[in-house]
Amino acid sequence: MKLKTVKEMALTGKRTLVRCEFNVPLDDSGAITDDKRITVCMPTIQYLVNQGAKVILCAHLGRPKGKVIAGLKLDPVGVRISELLGKPVRKLDDCIGKDVRSAVEKMKNGDVVLLENLRFHEEEKKGDRAFAKELASVADVYVNEAFGASHRADASMLGVTEFLPSAAGFRLQEEFDTLTHVIADPVRPFVAIVGGAKISDKIKVIKKFLEVADHVLIGGALANNLLKAKGLAIGKSIFEAEMMDVAKELALVDTHFHIPVDVVTAKEIASGVQTVTKAAGSVQDDEYILDIGPDTIDMYGKIIAKANTIVWGGPMGYFEIEEFARGTREIARRVCASAGTSIVGGGDSLDALQRSGCAGQVSFASTGGGAMLKLLEGELLPALKPLIKE
Ligand code: 3PG
Repeated sequence: MKLKTVKEMALTGKRTLVRCEFNVPLDDSGAITDDKRITVCMPTIQYLVNQGAKVILCAHLGRPKGKVIAGLKLDPVGVRISELLGKPVRKLDDCIGKDVRSAVEKMKNGDVVLLENLRFHEEEKKGDRAFAKELASVADVYVNEAFGASHRADASMLGVTEFLPSAAGFRLQEEFDTLTHVIADPVRPFVAIVGGAKISDKIKVIKKFLEVADHVLIGGALANNLLKAKGLAIGKSIFEAEMMDVAKELALVDTHFHIPVDVVTAKEIASGVQTVTKAAGSVQDDEYILDIGPDTIDMYGKIIAKANTIVWGGPMGYFEIEEFARGTREIARRVCASAGTSIVGGGDSLDALQRSGCAGQVSFASTGGGAMLKLLEGELLPALKPLIKE
């Protein structure tokens, strides 16, 4: 399956609405702390500028729920794009309306404007048709460069494609090709590593990996469900009672499905607490499981070392606190050291790679969290459907 791409469009002089993924992390002062989601859009933006398109960028930031929130305006994003492009980028005060129409009318070929946060209008999240039509009305063509939001059927993601010829940007195309290929035709052994807090969020992707991967390695709080399903004590650790039936089904798979054999526990979830490493199953009633233990790291490490393809999403423990970060960090190191293809996605896993100092060493760091999971599950993401070539 292939997406229509921006290279297949005539762009000179065309008003080109580009939906980007600029949902970047900000610090308390409103400064961007990681601009990867901006930098990955730059080849498409630069290409459009070089082609002489009139480039109208749009995006969401955060979840303002239809209200204008000063801290979620896109001004810092506009400044960063302008720095990266080396030319002015005019940031507008809204994403629809008279002022937007008039600013676009004045654009020359190769100019770039950035519309204000789409989610300041509640119609965006509702996928409202009239809003999508209004957004599309200032453009001749549409480019989706927002892989991370492609699991959303928002007006700017899906609605606008009803009104404009549409294609994928370079990064979206790369994300789609990389992730669909790894599931359809991985170089074996293929090892999938799944961590994170909630098994309910990851259950579909775990099942998919059990079908297609040679090994599935589980960590993070979601492993608690599987330990409990096997009848092992998990103390005060979180688990999802409503997921127990599914967890029991999964716990029966013992061929290529691996759950922690030892764990790091503590009586409190806080920095500076005393931690104890123990065999899975010997956790006391007053303890939390907060990381995988050294035997599990070793066991997972040996499997990872033999892999030719690795996909990793989700931390192995409560890695925000140093005492419980070792498992995630060690897995990150082993993934980075692999000579095979390594694909990592989701904010927490990427953060763990950064903290382990090896973020640049993986083959592909996906900019999508939820979107990556859904695509790997085998779901055709709503916003990508109109971009599929017949
Ligand atoms: C993301 O950061 O995962 C995407 O931008 C989607 O954001 P959302 O979960 O608020 O729709």
